[in-house]
Amino acid sequence: MSKFWSDVVHKLTPYVPGEQPKLDNLVKLNTNENPYGPSPKVIEALKLEAADSLRLYPDPNSDALKAAIAKTHHLNVNQVFVGNGSDEVLAHVFQALLKHDKPLLFPDITYSFYPVYCGLYGIPYKTIPLSEDFSINIEDYAQANGGIIFPNPNAPTGIPLALEKIEQLLKHNAESVVVIDEAYVDFGTESAVSLVNQYPNLLVIHTLSKARSLAGLRVGYALGNSDLIEALTRVKDSFNSYPIDRFASAGAIVAMQDVEYFDETCRHVVNTREALVKDLADLGFDILPSGANFIFAKHPLKDGAELTAELRAKSIIVRHFKSPTRISPYLRITIGTDMQSNILISALKDILQN
Ligand SMILES: Cc1ncc(COP(=O)(O)O)c(C=O)c1O
Repeated sequence: MSKFWSDVVHKLTPYVPGEQPKLDNLVKLNTNENPYGPSPKVIEALKLEAADSLRLYPDPNSDALKAAIAKTHHLNVNQVFVGNGSDEVLAHVFQALLKHDKPLLFPDITYSFYPVYCGLYGIPYKTIPLSEDFSINIEDYAQANGGIIFPNPNAPTGIPLALEKIEQLLKHNAESVVVIDEAYVDFGTESAVSLVNQYPNLLVIHTLSKARSLAGLRVGYALGNSDLIEALTRVKDSFNSYPIDRFASAGAIVAMQDVEYFDETCRHVVNTREALVKDLADLGFDILPSGANFIFAKHPLKDGAELTAELRAKSIIVRHFKSPTRISPYLRITIGTDMQSNILISALKDILQN
């Protein structure tokens, strides 16, 4: 607290990201990173970028990166916006497209950055409770709103929502922007990108942090009608001209192009997830259906906080959310390698026997 702080700063409740522990030999399953490194071609591109050209500013419009993203999704370049991680893209989306008199709607259990952006930008919002089974019921969103946002699959539940439900939502909310945050879509959830040309009120957000293994490079993007993209560009050009540095651009372009590596690593993560779900079920866990690179699971005999602490004592880090109480029995477990799954399962066997 300081007398020098602005009013806004006094009132902020900042987002708290998952821990990045500075310890060796951890089984780190807490922040939904990819267990496989980026494509070797990305590493090559980054090495080439370490050159004299770093003295020059990068392209403020990131044209080459936008072209690679547009090509991947069969869209035009003017339907693509890029930013420093999808968190930055989301920040601009909140300010440019979701700040209205009517409240922004999002689920009560969802990515916890959303209410933080509302606090930062003074956006009125209303949370809509998830159904009993933790799914999103789109009928609950049939009310006056200044926009709708949720991840698909949702986080931290991992539950996917069918594309036809998203299409219904778009049809019923033609006067507001519907933002689908597809951070985890590549692990088995149907993408809404196919609807972008049909619905001018749809904005889809992607990140290179998960399926493309580049959380450290900080690149995310939005796909939508050129009119929505222009709003984001206006905010970005009033904030930071160069959000994508030369390394980020060079690496992200190759990551978008190396489809073979992307497909193979995603498939591997999904296979590991299915095997882990089966092993956890054998240990008595209840696991929510996941279309993501993480699962949300609880055990009837052990509290979530207790399990998390006991795993931590065995150098295995998972994510636990104390509130709301409805999700406090659950652990959010990132899908790692098969070896990490085996370590997790044997640790859980140990813990549950005692
Ligand atoms: C639902 C969701 N959206 C967006 C992000 C932000 O990802 P990044 O800023 O790394 O692109 C995350 C990160 O965990 C997330 O879970």
